[in-house]
Amino acid sequence: MGTVVVTGSATGIGRAIALRLGAEHAVVVNAKDSVGEGRETADAIVASGGEAVFVQADVSTSRGAKEVISRGREALGPVTLLVNNAGATRAAELGDWDESHWHDMLNTNLLSAALTTQAFVSQLGGAEGAVVNVASARGLPGRARIGVAAYAAAKAGVISLTGALAQALAPQVSVNVVSPGFVNTRYFDRPDATDDDRARIEAWRTAVPIQRFVEPGEIADAVAFLLGNRGMTGANILADGGWTLTRD
Ligand SMILES: NC(=O)c1ccc[n+]([C@@H]2O[C@H](COP(=O)([O-])OP(=O)(O)OC[C@H]3O[C@@H](n4cnc5c(N)ncnc54)[C@H](OP(=O)(O)O)[C@@H]3O)[C@@H](O)[C@H]2O)c1
Repeated sequence: MGTVVVTGSATGIGRAIALRLGAEHAVVVNAKDSVGEGRETADAIVASGGEAVFVQADVSTSRGAKEVISRGREALGPVTLLVNNAGATRAAELGDWDESHWHDMLNTNLLSAALTTQAFVSQLGGAEGAVVNVASARGLPGRARIGVAAYAAAKAGVISLTGALAQALAPQVSVNVVSPGFVNTRYFDRPDATDDDRARIEAWRTAVPIQRFVEPGEIADAVAFLLGNRGMTGANILADGGWTLTRD
């Protein structure tokens, strides 16, 4: 038991992680804007007999990062587990880059994990804890592409941050990372997708050796495994259906 904060858990992978962990832990569900879906995720955990609360906060700011930890703690008790899942992918070709695009990608995907971990550690006292970050296979060497360079750089940063934190916080806190490949989420099911977008997504799907996108619940299983394994720290679990084995 113990309280776990899952950032960005209103939808997609974060929601699957929150539901999976809700069977064993009290869960702090979080989102920046998706309030309805965030409340719904917390309600689903409670309806299954668990404990959960929804905290709306922008975890890419110090204030929001502190808030999700402190309000979660007030509602459900000391937070001993943290999943830094909040993130977003936005594509921009070289000619369209500007400060706002790079700040958005770095803050949402990387700064959020750094600030929320800092807030988490500051309330831990002497308790043992565990952190799992959610990066991306795009963050691995050689897997970035120009249109998603800012996102890939941010996720490479998350992998690097994981190693630094794992060393600094051992043996009290384990810090590991999961790097998903393509996951069956709203990013690949946008109502505004053009025929070209749909064809590109289909090409990605068939290029994955397992011949499908990874399911959010499969990422949640990897996160749960890392949270429960005190012998592992600084590890990166690649959950990509074999995509990084291909040349795409
Ligand atoms: N889907 C994939 O194929 C894939 C692959 C590799 C890695 N990932 C990573 O997996 C994680 C989850 O992605 P997903 O596909 O499940 O995306 P998603 O459905 O868009 O969920 C992202 C969640 O993060 C929240 N969020 C974003 N910025 C936030 C902020 N500043 N503060 C608090 N919450 C914030 C969103 O809430 P709001 O709607 O309120 O902003 C939402 O609940 C991300 O880190 C993503 O980069 C995804």
